[in-house]
Amino acid sequence: MDYKTLYSKSIEEPELFWKKESQKLAWSVYPEQILKQNENGYYSWFVDGKINISRLALEENIKAGRGEQDALIYDSPVTGIVEKITYNELLEKVSRFAGGLKSLGLSKGDTAIIYMPMIPEAIVAMLACARIGVIHSVVFGGFASPELAIRIDDAQPDVIISASYGVEINRQINYKPLIDEAIELTLYKPKNIIIFERPNNTDDLSADNVHTYDEMYQHQPVEPIEVPSTHPLYILYTSGTTSTPKGVVRDTGGYATALNSTMKYFYDLEPGDTILTASDIGWVVGHSYIVYAPLIYGVTTVIYEGKPIKTPDAGAFWRMVEEHKIKNIFTAPTAIRAIRKEDPEGKLFNKYDTSSLKRLFLAGERCDTSTYYWLKEISKLPVIDHWWQTESGWPMLGICAGVENIMPEPGAAGLPVFGYNIKIVNEEGQENGLRDEGSIVIKLPLPPGCMTSLWRNEHRFIKGYFQQVPDHYLTGDGGYKDENGFVFITGRTDDIINVAGHRLSTATMEELVSSHPDITECAVVGIKDELKGQIPIGLIVTKENASKSEDEIEKDLVALLRKEIGGIACFKTSIVVNRLPKTRSGKILRKTLSQIADGASFTIPSTIDDPTVLDELIHEFTRRNIGLAFVSPQV
Ligand code: COA
Ligand code: AMP
Repeated sequence: MDYKTLYSKSIEEPELFWKKESQKLAWSVYPEQILKQNENGYYSWFVDGKINISRLALEENIKAGRGEQDALIYDSPVTGIVEKITYNELLEKVSRFAGGLKSLGLSKGDTAIIYMPMIPEAIVAMLACARIGVIHSVVFGGFASPELAIRIDDAQPDVIISASYGVEINRQINYKPLIDEAIELTLYKPKNIIIFERPNNTDDLSADNVHTYDEMYQHQPVEPIEVPSTHPLYILYTSGTTSTPKGVVRDTGGYATALNSTMKYFYDLEPGDTILTASDIGWVVGHSYIVYAPLIYGVTTVIYEGKPIKTPDAGAFWRMVEEHKIKNIFTAPTAIRAIRKEDPEGKLFNKYDTSSLKRLFLAGERCDTSTYYWLKEISKLPVIDHWWQTESGWPMLGICAGVENIMPEPGAAGLPVFGYNIKIVNEEGQENGLRDEGSIVIKLPLPPGCMTSLWRNEHRFIKGYFQQVPDHYLTGDGGYKDENGFVFITGRTDDIINVAGHRLSTATMEELVSSHPDITECAVVGIKDELKGQIPIGLIVTKENASKSEDEIEKDLVALLRKEIGGIACFKTSIVVNRLPKTRSGKILRKTLSQIADGASFTIPSTIDDPTVLDELIHEFTRRNIGLAFVSPQV
């Protein structure tokens, strides 16, 4: 089947298409009702089916003869450990850990927060929760305590599962103190904490409600319970346009079906292959392509506890390809830009035997063509950009490499992936012509595997995504289509920014910046950055009688955002301005601000209150040497 046939079937006969895909999985009760429209106008898939994703990932692989195949390869240059865990061994750990969770009183519908570094025990925890119907919420280990606290109050977990520490380049991050600090801040207090004790830890685990992995593993293994297809597998918090993160809820059966279908059609993999998804389990990419998709499909997944560079060098990915015979790498363009900076001629790529590597997939942020060509040139392999979101859970644009060998269009994020009826619309919600930039929307129903709601906030779910264009999902991204159907992403249409492939809310940052006693008003916007794609800067208006200098205020803000959000916010610069550009109704013109800061061409909005503010800003940015357009080194 070619791409066009596959795609058309998925759009014209979605129920038939997805029924066939669902039948590739071992359900305990196969669904009869494939698609159902709910009272709120949104859709659910496979409502009468029953399934358990931990069983799919473990017992079903063992049944298929893959018990002695590696399920996980843990490669940790920061600790010097490489450990292989077979499907049989993983089943043993997961089923015992699930027994431990049960002994703490957890059962179907309860919630657990997993706050961990990139170690196999994080995956054990995820699968153990899924095994007994406990809804997990993995919080990225780089978030500081206040961000963890927000998620604890929203998810109300019965247990927090963590490890003694994470290891960054030359730095150890102890988690237990961060958890204790977070719990000090929360209204909701989790009953239990489980810690995986890493070597040489200094944790105080004496409290009665603190348990260890060793203790969990003493319990008898438990069988998976079958849950309705629509049972939430997880909540994953992501940044929205307000300072409160959105808890994206994922179902079980629809997600398993969609992920399973992508392994062949999109990533062109076979059971038994090995992949490296160089992300983190704290992001959706990690949930889908470090954990669930590979394990459901019987692929070996590499858990990489390291960075693309400096652990120990820019050859880290290529070393793993040789050692673990990796077939596909999936990473963010930032990682490739970092590798290129350190090894511009790709000498380290050539140092290793990379003959097992067939394709490189990029996502998480826009891939500039310079990075794309460089990677293609040094690897002599297909490089596939693809576009998706926490909300979708799996690719929406890209090249279905397992279906047809279509040449990607450099700069484009690809063609619509099966299941996604993608349109570009104008402000009135009407479809745009070719190459006419607009808002990217997707006609309902979305395919299986996409979010089913926002945790405890259905109002925000409907209002935020479905009310702008009737019968369509609003992605929040802008873009345009070309004559061949390729879609180009031009960036977010809201105030979310993307720093090193991490989606961050400027609203959260603004709330923190404006809490500084010397600041009357502020705007945080993303500006282009050669390595990280975007970084935030704060534009601040200070009080007349400010007690601190410009430099002191900047230092305060950098420290504050680091403490409250974490280092990943990469907030390093604030600029004092006299006024901020606003509309006549008082709304700050953030898009215009970031266009000026990027040195990009911009149109003065007709709604602007006083256009002379823009001249002042351009002058200030030029003086501070901000506004140099994003220029990547040429090959
Ligand atoms: N736990 C604790 N701290 C973390 C962390 C984690 N899991 N991840 C990042 N941080 C910290 C870093 O240590 C760093 O702290 P510092 O300011 O004290 O140095 C800060 O957050 C910024 O981290 P990062 O954005 O990773 O920048 P870096 O300069 O350390 O590394 C790259 C640069 C390019 C190597 C890195 O950004 C990278 O690997 N990018 C790809 C990210 C990716 O895969 N994204 C895809 C998500 S789908
Ligand atoms: P997240 O929900 O964290 O995965 O972030 C999703 C956002 O990242 C999208 O809405 C896009 O803005 C951006 N993004 C992801 N992949 C791509 C891509 N391939 N090209 C351009 N932007 C991307």
